[in-house]
Amino acid sequence: MISTIERVVFLRTVDLFRHIPGEVLARVAEIAQEVRFGPNDEIVREGASGDAMFLLIEGYVDVVKGDRLVVTLGPKECVGEMALLDSEPRSATVRCKDAVHALQILREDFYDLMSGHVEIARGVIKILIQRLRKTTGS
Ligand code: CMP
Repeated sequence: MISTIERVVFLRTVDLFRHIPGEVLARVAEIAQEVRFGPNDEIVREGASGDAMFLLIEGYVDVVKGDRLVVTLGPKECVGEMALLDSEPRSATVRCKDAVHALQILREDFYDLMSGHVEIARGVIKILIQRLRKTTGS
């Protein structure tokens, strides 16, 4: 279990929260739940419903669509933001390559954060666009 201060220090390194004031990060640190997964565990499964996103603290994950590896993601990146935002089924399976330590944020809490802090909404839009650019080469 990491302390609130350690969570805030970690959140400061995450792109999504880079421009967010310390007191707001402390709130994010409070509402986030620490979760741990083992190698080969599925954090989310393609087609399933889901109401949480995950910020990776340690460990790497494969994002897999069908049997195609889309990308490997690691510390300071987020997964599960798509279904959290549009309530559609998970677009891919996210499978742990090794032991993964993450912070989980639920949809309602993330919506509250976005409505109070437009920078967080901008940050998540930026992540979605970067991933789209990488995937489509645009
Ligand atoms: P979600 O659809 O909720 O669950 C699967 C997750 O895999 C998705 O959110 C993203 O976090 C991630 N994902 C899906 N497609 C891509 C992609 N092209 N690039 C990076 N991450 C992706």
